[in-house]
Order: sequence, then C-alpha cells, then structure tokens
Amino acid sequence: MVQTLTVLGLESSCDDTAAAVVRQTDGGRAEVLSSIVHGQTELHSAFGGVVPEIAARAHAEKLDTCVMQALEAAGLILADMDAIAVTAGPGLIGGVMSGVMCAKGLSAATGLPLIGVNHLAGHALTPRLTDGISFPYLMLLVSGGHCQYLIAHGPEQFTRLGGTIDDAPGEAFDKTARLLGLPQPGGPTVEVEARSGDPKRFRFPRPLLDRPGCDLSFSGLKTALMRMRDQIVAEKGGLTRQDRADLCAGFQQAIVDTLAEKTRRAMDLYLKENPSNAVIAVAGGVAANSAIRSALETVCAEKGARFTAPPLALCTDNAAMIAYAGLERFRAGARDGLDLTARPRWPLDQNSPAMLGSGKKGAKA
Ligand code: KG4
Ligand code: ZN
Repeated sequence: MVQTLTVLGLESSCDDTAAAVVRQTDGGRAEVLSSIVHGQTELHSAFGGVVPEIAARAHAEKLDTCVMQALEAAGLILADMDAIAVTAGPGLIGGVMSGVMCAKGLSAATGLPLIGVNHLAGHALTPRLTDGISFPYLMLLVSGGHCQYLIAHGPEQFTRLGGTIDDAPGEAFDKTARLLGLPQPGGPTVEVEARSGDPKRFRFPRPLLDRPGCDLSFSGLKTALMRMRDQIVAEKGGLTRQDRADLCAGFQQAIVDTLAEKTRRAMDLYLKENPSNAVIAVAGGVAANSAIRSALETVCAEKGARFTAPPLALCTDNAAMIAYAGLERFRAGARDGLDLTARPRWPLDQNSPAMLGSGKKGAKA
C-alpha cells in the first residue's frame, strides 16, 4: 500500500535553530515542504567560537517560533504530521536538550510519534533526499564540526572508514582566518584570498599522508601557519596583502591535497566491496569550497565514480535532513518514547567510534 508520510523535523545541536517539514510518498522522492533556519552567528561573534550556554538559551527561545514558521511555510498544521523527528545528538548538550524537550512537548500534546535522529545520519542521508541515491554509497562529511568518511548501507547502518583525529577542516579555515585577521566564517574569506595567492611559496605539511588509511589531521596546519606568519612579521614588521594571499593559498592547497588523497583511499576501500555502485556524496559547509570540490571531482573521474553534493542550504546544518532521516527511521518501524535522551556523543558506527576531540563545535561524534 502506498503510504504518504509527512514529518516535522527539529535541529538544535550547534548554532542553528531549525525546523522543517518533509513529505514522501512511499517509493517516491521526498519533498522539502519547508525549511527554516535561524543562525546564531551574531550571538557568538564576540567570543571567537560558539558559547554552549548562549546557544542553548537561544535555541530554547527560538524553537517554537521556528516550528510555527515551518508549518506555516508548508501550509500545514501539526495535525497533518505523521511524526516528529528531532536531533537527539551528537552535539552541544544544552542545545540538543532544548530540541528534544520541545519535540517531547509537541509529541505529548498531539499524540504524534517521536523519532530521535542522529545529526550525522541527517547529513549522511541527505543525498537520498536531494538526489534519490540508493544504498550503498560513500559519504564524506566535511564541515566546521565534522570530517569523516562513511559507507551508508541503510538508514541506520554506517561503516566509518576514517576521519579527523583533531580539528575538522572548516575549523582549520576559521582558525586560519582568525590568525590572519580575516572575517568569520573563515572558509569563504580564506578561499577568496587564496585565489590571488601562490600556493607554492609556503610549504605546509600534508598531515598523515605518510600513514596508511583514511584518518586525517588538520590541527598542525594552523600551527604551521602561525609560525610562518610570525616569521614574516619578525622579518618585515608586518604582512603585506600578497603575504596573506600566499599563506591562504598554501594552507588551502594542503587541505585540498590531503582530502584528495584520503578520498582516493576511501574510494578504493569502498569500491572493493561495492564495485557496482560507484557513488560518492559530499556534505558540510566545506563542500562549498570550489578548489576542494574540483579536486574531489577529479578523484571521482579517475575512479569512474559519480560525484554528488546536495545544494548548500541542505549541506550545512538544517532540519530538513533531520525530518528526512526521521522519516526513513519511521518507515522502518522505529519509534522513541518520552524517555528519549539527548546524547553529546553518538558515533554513527558503533564499531568504529570517532577519535576524541574531533570538531570544534563541541563534542560532535
Ligand atoms: O556545515 P556547516 O555550516 O556547520 C558545521 O560546521 O556544522 O559548516 C561551516 C563551516 C565553517 O567552518 C566554514 O568556515 C566552512 O564550513 N566553510 C568553508 C567554505 N564555506 C564554509 N570552508 C572552506 N571554503 C568555503 N568556501
Ligand atoms: Zn552538522
């Protein structure tokens, strides 16, 4: 029997308060009926990073408005929903709790089923929402809070091939921008500077390339950059525009080369097991970087694989991905009770948990 499901999703695990409505007719493509995101950048800008207590309070204050806006934009009411999906982790615990409490309240008041969603599963399943990709596929999550290679086998079955052992790449871009006095978020500003720079003038390390496997490390890049910057300042009394552009270009090229090589390795591992479904999907804010994107596309072409990246609004944190991941769980029969707990850490692959310390925006996974 064809069953149309409509799910309300809530997201509040970091610094975006979001609500969305997603609908799917069984066997058909899912549709985003609405997706509302209220960012908190200005609340945290004076502190140089996300302040968990400020984030949690802002989520608690904004979530109900967000839900109302998402329903209104979809032209629906709560009674039209089949379930309520909410990010139950991993993330900054105060924010995750705000979302879970809000979803529990809505579920208790309406009798609608509650579905807890892993935030990373939301990102990892987005290519199914946007491109209708079938399992299995290889996934690279690359943002300010995450960096990992995953094989998606099913809505709740993931194998983690590797990931960062310290900073996420977006975090490295943000720190680099801070060290060079460029505005936040650092990714886009460093990318623009890098365009007029010489990537060969400064030699940045390519961390972990000398070791087998798909793990990555980015924290050494900012230390290298800081040393180079300090040396120029000591020699010349300050940085010229060209110095800054060359530093950005060298730094970005190190990230490009590292991600390209590790993606090549992840693809080889994936293709060995799944030769007939040669697909890699990329999600996360860093996927917006055109140098990184084109390097990944080149690797895909080398391997004869299809490359796909969701539109940026669904690549970065949003609630449509949570509603969609909840919808997949719901269709598979999953239900959570009012005892659903918020989890600061929640690795997607229980057999291969992420290294401690990965990601800036709190304990991601
Ligand atoms: O996925 P996202 O919105 O949030 C999380 O981190 O969860 O990603 C934001 C990150 C920031 O660190 C930002 O600097 C980075 O993505 N970013 C970029 C670019 N645009 C955004 N990094 C490199 N190049 C870009 N063009
Ligand atoms: Zn995220």
